[in-house]
Amino acid sequence: PSMNTKMWSSKMVQANIEKLKDAGYEFMEPASGDLACGTEGKGRLPAIEEILERMEDIFTSKDLTEETVLVTAGPTMEFIDPVRCITNRSSGKMGYAVAKMAKRRGADVTLITGPATIEFPRNDIDIVHVTTACQMRDAVMEHYKKAGVVIMTAAVADFRCREENCQKIKKKGDSNYMTLELEKNPDIIGELGKVKEQRIIVGFAAETENLLDNAKEKLKKKNLDIIVANDVAKAGIGFGSDNNEVMIIEKSGKAKQVPLLSKEEIANIILDSVKKALKNKKRIKEDWY
Ligand code: CTP
Repeated sequence: PSMNTKMWSSKMVQANIEKLKDAGYEFMEPASGDLACGTEGKGRLPAIEEILERMEDIFTSKDLTEETVLVTAGPTMEFIDPVRCITNRSSGKMGYAVAKMAKRRGADVTLITGPATIEFPRNDIDIVHVTTACQMRDAVMEHYKKAGVVIMTAAVADFRCREENCQKIKKKGDSNYMTLELEKNPDIIGELGKVKEQRIIVGFAAETENLLDNAKEKLKKKNLDIIVANDVAKAGIGFGSDNNEVMIIEKSGKAKQVPLLSKEEIANIILDSVKKALKNKKRIKEDWY
């Protein structure tokens, strides 16, 4: 409802809203700002995009209410010195879309994000902000135990500087070259693969060649249930784009080509595959007992 602030805050209106809520009606709080009558305050019609999001939330079937999902997103950033860093082109959009859709479908979601370039679109999700790969590793290890599903979309930097430079590195001598010594970062998903137990673990494979073979090898090596492969060299998809085109590969080797779609649509297709994997795991467990 949108109306003047005084009318909105009147006891009678609030009591009637409560009655309607009890009867099962959904309400959106009005937004604050300039009002039609020339005053300012709470009572504005919320942004149309927000109303649409809320409607999508209400009309989406809640098929993941029993699941706790941990999502990682964005790039990581490794410092060279106080002013320079090593990072990559990940925007965080794919991971944010996965977290948003999992929440929309009723899951309990925690998002661990590196320094992404976009704002997270919902405020009803637990968000853990990290910068470096080591921080992301620690956050994942702290949160994975309560999750039944872990989806690692993050583009983790594979290396960090071997030496910590607390001061800005200065140019030395006349050489046109300099060497940075790098040290391998922990393979977070690889570590998870070793302690996964009954969890479903989904990895992403960013490739520029031999997409299917490289992705299948990663799935096996890291003990994953599903790997989502995308060709990051292809124009119009991947890094920074709102769209993506992926291949979803299951542990059985079955691969599904997903055509060019929005990252939110892709996220839902990935979550459908997760649901299938959860069902299979449950069935195997029941057969075992
Ligand atoms: N990943 C991870 N920790 C790392 C590197 C990657 O957890 N240090 C995860 C990513 O989040 C992704 C998957 O592993 O889900 C594959 O990432 P990718 O960068 O494609 O593969 P790498 O294992 O880094 O192999 P390479 O860079 O040699 O292709």
